[in-house]
Amino acid sequence: MARALTTYVCQSCGATYGRWQGKCESCGAWNTIAEESVAATGVGGAPVKAKAGGGKAKGRAFALAGLDGASEQAPRMETQVGELDRVFGGGLVRGSVILLGGDPGIGKSTLLIQASARLARMGHRVVYISGEEAVDQVRLRAERLGLTASPVELAAETNVEDIVATLAEGPAPRLVVIDSIQTMWTDTVESAPGTVSQVRSAAQVLIRYAKKSGAAVILVGHVTKDGQIAGPRVVEHMVDAVMSFEGEGGHHFRILRSVKNRFGPTDEIGVFEMTGKGLREVPNPSELFLAGRDLGAPGTAVFAGMEGTRPVLVEIQALVAASTLGTPRRAVVGWDPSRLSMVLAVLDAHCGVRLGSHDVYLNVAGGLRIAEPAADLAVAAALVSSLSGAVLPSDAVHFGEISLSGAVRPVAQAAARLKEARKLGFVRAVVPEIARGEQAESGLTVQAVTHLSTLVADIAASGVGRAKPKAVAGE
Ligand code: TYD
Ligand code: MG
Repeated sequence: MARALTTYVCQSCGATYGRWQGKCESCGAWNTIAEESVAATGVGGAPVKAKAGGGKAKGRAFALAGLDGASEQAPRMETQVGELDRVFGGGLVRGSVILLGGDPGIGKSTLLIQASARLARMGHRVVYISGEEAVDQVRLRAERLGLTASPVELAAETNVEDIVATLAEGPAPRLVVIDSIQTMWTDTVESAPGTVSQVRSAAQVLIRYAKKSGAAVILVGHVTKDGQIAGPRVVEHMVDAVMSFEGEGGHHFRILRSVKNRFGPTDEIGVFEMTGKGLREVPNPSELFLAGRDLGAPGTAVFAGMEGTRPVLVEIQALVAASTLGTPRRAVVGWDPSRLSMVLAVLDAHCGVRLGSHDVYLNVAGGLRIAEPAADLAVAAALVSSLSGAVLPSDAVHFGEISLSGAVRPVAQAAARLKEARKLGFVRAVVPEIARGEQAESGLTVQAVTHLSTLVADIAASGVGRAKPKAVAGE
């Protein structure tokens, strides 16, 4: 008999304690520790059968292999949803397990039913298990999306042992979708569905199934208020890939990002648009992010960025306004707030642009989240433009990293950025010095800047004579 244990498990990070306490020492969360009664568990939560004698069983010797042995390339299967395949790294790998996280209502179920339908139509066996919606609900959605002709096999089930037993009948499916892992439960653990031990054990059963059968399994995971995939972080460690499906409220764009991927890159993004007929792929995101630009307004700059191997042009919007607050407000959407503080400090210290008594708002248009330091130059340009009231040329792109000394540092893949800019009709680029060499090839007029103060002076000079010049201090 397995020994029954009562443990206290943090529902946020999975840390275990011998007694209840209000605060989790591990992740610092309050009121997240709940009592869970589990059978004695082995590594990763698998139930351990105690030996009759109680002593440790003698291990079995296994063969070790060398690095040079012949192995198969991870066989991939394209879903034919191009943006999805791009993020997976060229298609679904057989026997792999993918965790797909995202806010409620962002479109996870829609994305997966669309991908399932594509695969099923190609003649692969695809099983879609919904733990949240009834079969009729899934069917109604499929009807709206015009997918009812695809032979996807549906079920509304939550017990993983039953699911694995059902899947074992007939040929092994190529794809199994579990929507969602938080609703699944296993017989081996006594605690309620959704608790850390249940989620971990259920995930383990499904992962074992995937490895054994060669089916690719996609687990949908809920996201908590602070953006973490709910349940134990351990599930993230257990699976082969973690994807997150994101979008800003009010925007139709959805971005699929890979957070971890054992079989592919992690910096690729897939871009979709939510329409009345489901998710539409967006193979050229720049056009989408630049659509509806306000060309005559100060405070906007176009950033030529890279997302993985793909260049993406996006508009950076800044608003600088005199503050009535003791501590001026800094609000950022789509960029790193500490990076903004750094750019503001460099503008202050090296360029004489004082924003200490101004509220600063920064927004990356279209709901994209930028992580690249290469956006520094575009952000600085947008800030100075807003402060001085000088409109930046609408046919120019900006990129470059700013160092603490105010020097503009080169960034990777300048040629690809310039090429994309040209493709979209831009004729000028404000870039770091070293990228000047790319000018001949790109066909753009390249303005190389070595120090941020040069750019600030240029922008301020271009604004002279406007109706309401707000002179940049120090110029
Ligand atoms: P859903 O896939 O159910 O989200 P999740 O599984 O991530 O919770 O998507 C639900 C949202 O998507 C809902 O707000 C309506 C919207 N939607 C559309 O706009 N068009 C469509 O064709 C579909 C199916 C959903
Ligand atoms: Mg859903």
